[in-house]
Amino acid sequence: MTADLEGGLIELQKFVDLLNQGEVVAIPTETVYGLAARIDLPDAIRKIFQVKERPFFDPLIVHVASLDQARGLVKSWPAGAEILAKAFWPGPLTLVLAKAVHVEATITSGLETVGVRMPGHPLALQLIEKVGVPLAAPSANKFGRTSPTSADHVRKEFGDSVAILDGGSCEVGIESTVLWMSEASGTLEWNILRQGAVSAEQIQTVLDGAKISHHARAEVEKKHSPGHMKHHYMPEIPLIFVSGKKMSDAEITREANIQIARMPDVVEGVRIRKPCSPLSAPASLTLNQDPALAARELYARLRELSQGNADHLIFRLEAFHKGGIWDAILDRLRKAASLSL
Ligand code: TXA
Ligand code: MG
Repeated sequence: MTADLEGGLIELQKFVDLLNQGEVVAIPTETVYGLAARIDLPDAIRKIFQVKERPFFDPLIVHVASLDQARGLVKSWPAGAEILAKAFWPGPLTLVLAKAVHVEATITSGLETVGVRMPGHPLALQLIEKVGVPLAAPSANKFGRTSPTSADHVRKEFGDSVAILDGGSCEVGIESTVLWMSEASGTLEWNILRQGAVSAEQIQTVLDGAKISHHARAEVEKKHSPGHMKHHYMPEIPLIFVSGKKMSDAEITREANIQIARMPDVVEGVRIRKPCSPLSAPASLTLNQDPALAARELYARLRELSQGNADHLIFRLEAFHKGGIWDAILDRLRKAASLSL
């Protein structure tokens, strides 16, 4: 065994022990870092909500290392779930299905469903395997704020209060696609609750290819997805999302000063980024033209720009921000924005 590998295994064992002792630890996944605890330790699960300052109405995703573990969390495992899991796992797709009785209400916020995913990061998979129990993990950021895509981001958010398993920078960079599914009379109904790197078109193609009788619901019912607030992922300084309007930076800043001052301090439980004094120094958020790279760098760019000299950020919608994973990136940016113009 090489020294590196041996060192890695000793480090991993430390996190296994912490989880088994009921601690909350930060873990790498391919999407964003998560704040993890064993699903069978209710005090540890409650600790996630405390550390994250997350309201109890927002359910947690349960992370598994095998299909068997996934099947053990749900009341029934439709053929469509098996097909999608085989097509996209390990990977950025969370399946929301009717939960098994033993899954604690704290994890699911009292819902009858549970979100399950197999993360595509070798350290996360090894950790879950060694613990032997699935891990509940929301993104490792304070509620409503930008998700972390490196160990350093997590450290900046929580200091030394949480042990961090460093798995490098996240490859995907934005949170998983959340897909609600329900089977009735042999037809699978599905609905995307949160967009991510796995698109509706990809899901449609896989289900069509497997000749599954299925139907995509057009509307998301709020009761199926209590965690979807208008504002989320917000950086340290206000972000202004500008679409379709020809405005100079100075005009945007002037308009933002007028409109942000009129906004409430808190919307749907999330504190809005509002300046203490009038905004005057904008910075432009520009992203790579390749959407996979744009997603990967999105949260790091929001953090970097927030720590510079600017007091607000401007993102301008461009014609090429269209289709595929751009839809998921724009969803995050619209929610991260204090104001859309
Ligand atoms: O990529 C990801 O999904 C990351 C990594 C760590 O796996 N996790 C993540 O967790 O983004 P979180 O808690 O920040 O966002 C999960 C969202 C919740 O806000 C909630 O809306 C939705 O998933 N969710 C979880 N369980 C659900 C359920 N039973 N029904 C509906 N929505 C659910
Ligand atoms: Mg989150």
